[in-house]
Amino acid sequence: NVKSSVVSVDGPAAAGKTTTSLAVAEIFDMKYLESGRAYRVLAYEALRSGVDPTDPKKMVALCSKISRGDRVSELLGLNRYTAGELRSLAVGRTVSKVAGIAELRRRVTNSVHIWAAGNRRSIVEGRDIGTVVFPTAVPKFYLTASAETRARRRLAQEGSGSLKEVFEDVVRRDRADTTRSASPLVPASDAIIIDTTELSIEQVVDRMAEACGASGLA
Ligand code: CDP
Ligand code: CDP
Repeated sequence: NVKSSVVSVDGPAAAGKTTTSLAVAEIFDMKYLESGRAYRVLAYEALRSGVDPTDPKKMVALCSKISRGDRVSELLGLNRYTAGELRSLAVGRTVSKVAGIAELRRRVTNSVHIWAAGNRRSIVEGRDIGTVVFPTAVPKFYLTASAETRARRRLAQEGSGSLKEVFEDVVRRDRADTTRSASPLVPASDAIIIDTTELSIEQVVDRMAEACGASGLA
């Protein structure tokens, strides 16, 4: 029975979580999971099948259909879904509504636990990883940057929509994610907070790698 260790990375949209987590995963030979994919899968399937994304009962039924009780990888979006499907503006507009439903959060959390238990060490990215999903994660990172910077980064990355549209999506999701009652986005009390507004990707990765090393990862 191998004990699995988890590093958590939380923060608002386009703070650099995915890019830096992948680099840190490479350095320390960790498995990587983007937990936001699960909420995007739920939003995408709701839009596709015409289910009201704010209706908890219907969304939980849809979730059961997707994961069919125990198929963790389907709900986590590890197969089948393309970036184009999961990262469309329509999904961006819907995902935070879906992510406010407490029972869906419990199911996603459960799937992430099952996934992580299968790995010796992993780095998991999202909004509530250090606070709710893995409160014992070490180290915990909270990445942030000004909303303007994050909107510009996302626009450069995806190249679709106008700066105004992307900025509005980012700000709307930040507001929804930080103000919801079920596991709101907030730094864990023991999180290392990195404001990346003025930092390059390399500088952020260096700081994260240093903290991982200091926590005994090698
Ligand atoms: O890549 P980006 O940070 O823009 O978004 P994401 O990680 O794909 O997450 C999309 C949405 O899923 C977020 O805006 C949250 O509403 C939700 N989410 C969450 O509630 N909890 C998580 N652990 C991960 C994502
Ligand atoms: O996962 P999250 O939504 O937090 O952000 P991301 O998808 O990793 O990063 C959004 C974009 O910002 C990517 O194109 C990165 O290359 C870029 N970027 C960054 O992540 N960190 C910086 N310090 C500068 C740019």
